[in-house]
Amino acid sequence: MRSIKTRLAVNFIFIIIITVILLETLIINVVKQSYYKNLENNLYNQIKTSADLYYRYFSDATLYDNVLNNVDTFWKQVPAQVEILDTNGEVLMDSIGVIPENASKMPDVKAALEGNTGKWVGKVDYDDNLVMAVSYPLKSREGTVGVLRFITSLREVNNDIKRIFLIFMWIGIIAVFVSGIISMVMSNTIISPLKEIISAAKKMASGNFTTRPVKRYDDEIGKLADTLNYMADEIVKRDQLKNDFISSVSHELRTPLTSIKGWAVTLREGSMGDVELLSDGLEIIEKESDRLTVMVEELLDFSKFVSGKITMIKEQVDVEELVKQLKMQLSPRAERENINFEVIIEGEIPPLITDENRLKQVFINILDNSFKFTPAGGKVLFNVMCKENSLVFRIKDTGCGISPDELPHVKEKFFKGKNSNSSNGIGLSICDEIIKLMGGTFEIASVLGKGTEATVTLPLNNGGEV
Ligand SMILES: Nc1ncnc2c1ncn2[C@@H]1O[C@H](COP(=O)(O)OP(=O)(O)OP(=O)(O)O)[C@@H](O)[C@H]1O
Ligand SMILES: [Mg+2]
Repeated sequence: MRSIKTRLAVNFIFIIIITVILLETLIINVVKQSYYKNLENNLYNQIKTSADLYYRYFSDATLYDNVLNNVDTFWKQVPAQVEILDTNGEVLMDSIGVIPENASKMPDVKAALEGNTGKWVGKVDYDDNLVMAVSYPLKSREGTVGVLRFITSLREVNNDIKRIFLIFMWIGIIAVFVSGIISMVMSNTIISPLKEIISAAKKMASGNFTTRPVKRYDDEIGKLADTLNYMADEIVKRDQLKNDFISSVSHELRTPLTSIKGWAVTLREGSMGDVELLSDGLEIIEKESDRLTVMVEELLDFSKFVSGKITMIKEQVDVEELVKQLKMQLSPRAERENINFEVIIEGEIPPLITDENRLKQVFINILDNSFKFTPAGGKVLFNVMCKENSLVFRIKDTGCGISPDELPHVKEKFFKGKNSNSSNGIGLSICDEIIKLMGGTFEIASVLGKGTEATVTLPLNNGGEV
């Protein structure tokens, strides 16, 4: 596996090398151009001076005579190789004695024969380096009489350029080296927080939720750390809630068990004769067993719900009847807690094909909350109506309400509010799950301190089969 660190560093260095090479090529080219141009200008100046001299002092004699007699006078100061050609391009004289065969074909000579200045850079067989040649027309009063040609080796210029190139190359190598080190350090600043997160995540995976990755920067990796921390908090919180739930359930289970056990002991210890006591005791044992059964059912239900295995037994449900039953069932509690409990059935309510017990469970859970969170003297309103092919159930209370930061979470498993009346935090999550299975929607609106309104909407044509 190639680590991100190496990948980053290699990419950085690659980019730097490309940049350095491009830049250096550009610089060296510019340097070369300017050196060549300089040399060319020098040669031009010299050749022009020489040609002027010739025109002024020598043009009375023929070119041929001049070559024979005064040959070195007008170009004497020139360090370059000098050639003098006639108007046919034939070389009459060469200062170092080489006579090129095809001088007349050289572009610089051609240009000079046409009256212009000419330049040429190319190879000659008597020099390892390239040479630069400039040609200039030699004139007398009658017109062009020949061509003056200066040729110089590019050896020294090229050596200078080579030296400059070497200097730049070293600068480039150092730049690559230094930026390589910097990119290593930079990729380290990216990688080391990642490594910390990986090690924290590993610890979490093995069950240690007390470790928390440190957030170093507020970037993507910082967000990853935040998310991981949030996840760990959530897991710890849920675990705690589950434990609380289990312990509170076990506590509840113990009460009927103690009572059953107590009565069984009492009855065995010789109260067989007392028929009244015996029947009382047996009755209590029976009742408590029933209570236990219900509790165990509920627990099973809950575990099914947690593992997403709620089943629905669909039948035709008389909703009006169900609502009336709820009213009867809860009215004693309303009276006891001094809450004004009102049930309003608006118009005809058609039957609904669904699981009756689950539907009842939904309303009991919601109404239980309303009663729980509404102080004495308050009001709970249960309103049912049929609207556009669906049944709308509204449960409104004048209780303590839910704060805006808690409201989005109330339907989550194990979420319970800060209110002291909150218990296990599963009521609404079970409702939500059941309503989803029924194809309906579940909305909760609330104003803190004013009250809460839960709205359940169930579609009437939900499949149709019984
Ligand atoms: N009518 C309401 N008024 C004020 N707060 C409410 C109301 N209904 C729900 N809540 C808030 O939403 C939380 C979640 O409700 P939920 O019914 O899921 O749990 P619970 O009532 O605390 O416990 P459980 O229903 O499992 O016994 C409650 O703890 C409470 O803070
Ligand atoms: Mg509840």
